[in-house]
Amino acid sequence: MSITTSAPIATIASLSAHEGQTVTLRGWLYNLRASGKLLFPIFRDGTGTIQGIVPKAAVPEAVFETLKNLTLESSLTVTGKVRADSRAPSGFELDVEDVQVIQKVPVETPFPIQLKEAGVDFLMEHRHLWVRTPRQSAILRVRATIMRAAAEYFDTNGFIRTDPPILTPNACEGTSELFEMDYFDDDKAYLTQSGQLYIEATALALGKVYSFGPTFRAEKSKTRRHLTEFWMIEPEVAFLELDGLLNLAEGFITHIVTTVLAHHRADLKVIGKDVEKLEAVITPGGFPRVSYDEAHAMLETAFAEGKIEAPHTYGHDFGSPDETYISSQFDKPVMIHRYPAAFKAFYMQPDPLDPTKALCVDVLAPEGYGEIIGGSQRIHDYNLLKSRIEQHDLPLAAFQWYLDLRKYGSVPHSGFGMGIERAVAWICGLDHVRETIPFARTLNRIYP
Ligand code: 4AD
Ligand code: MG
Repeated sequence: MSITTSAPIATIASLSAHEGQTVTLRGWLYNLRASGKLLFPIFRDGTGTIQGIVPKAAVPEAVFETLKNLTLESSLTVTGKVRADSRAPSGFELDVEDVQVIQKVPVETPFPIQLKEAGVDFLMEHRHLWVRTPRQSAILRVRATIMRAAAEYFDTNGFIRTDPPILTPNACEGTSELFEMDYFDDDKAYLTQSGQLYIEATALALGKVYSFGPTFRAEKSKTRRHLTEFWMIEPEVAFLELDGLLNLAEGFITHIVTTVLAHHRADLKVIGKDVEKLEAVITPGGFPRVSYDEAHAMLETAFAEGKIEAPHTYGHDFGSPDETYISSQFDKPVMIHRYPAAFKAFYMQPDPLDPTKALCVDVLAPEGYGEIIGGSQRIHDYNLLKSRIEQHDLPLAAFQWYLDLRKYGSVPHSGFGMGIERAVAWICGLDHVRETIPFARTLNRIYP
């Protein structure tokens, strides 16, 4: 529908440029309060919310009646004068002059998400509408900036983006988590779990590369950290060894947090995140680097002192409570390196000083958010990699091309992957990754 107005069209986020002017906003009715002959509608337009003031005596009767009877989430254009108000969250209020309804939500079928609390199952079932509410919109804005800053870090540091395939013939991170599908005739294909193997090939072509796209894991885990479809950004660098990889991860996370703090203080406030915790991440001094053995020793002491409930068994992976305890000891992300090779991926380079350990790193976010990054130096020796593929019972034929990379000019190389949703959960301070992505895919949800 065309909008008949002579006023300039503006967005709520840009109202500071229009103070004292009459503008037209295009959006939705977010809330409405009436007090006798005064209406206080709140409008939203995707960039923010603003309260309107509508005194019955100051507007044409039709405008007053239209707004008074308008249902929440009806779409509209509203014209009014922008007035600075230091008490308003956006800094402005709108003295409404005119309103045009585009579509009125029928009175019989009100917007299902009321402003009071609803259960999370109900909200996830109505995710297509839930995304309109201010907190969810703020999270999606921060997510977009995290994705932009993540790509920007590599784009501005000499990395070439090379996108790996999503349909793949074999596993990267373990066969139990693969989504399988028919691929013509008698073939099977699997949705990618990680682009790593492919960007190892492009790294040996281009030096420094990264990939950024959706990845899939048929994990039967119902935790607050697991999705079956998530977005991963993965750098891979030729001639880079573990120490350099840790530096890369540190610079990368620092850039993301710095960018979010520069652009989203208002959003983080709406979300309810304590920004001081993020500011601590980017103070000078680097991220703590703790070996698996040192982390195990920390957990032994913590158990002896009654600070954690269960002991950690040496040689096993860390459980969620272990990770929470370790990360709670630091106010920056902690980089745990050199895990036992026995429970890590087949492609990880063994530590020459102790070949039972892998030259790998998990970065744990502060505040108990657990692992956000996993990475390693890769095995570059042909024979060692071949024997690892065999030991892991992986089909050698499917990995022939990957082994080729160790036959033609092999060099030490390293990379990592960061799950965007884990990073969003940490940076926004969310209980569950289901709120970090527009439409979460989990073990028991594929609707809407
Ligand atoms: O630690 P992961 O499994 O490592 C890899 O996939 C490597 N191939 C990456 C590489 O070296 N290029 O996964 C990397 C990250 C995790 O640290 C986590 O942030 C995220 O991906 N992740 C998940 N996020 C949400 N839901 C899941 N089910 C996830 N599984 C992993
Ligand atoms: Mg991992």
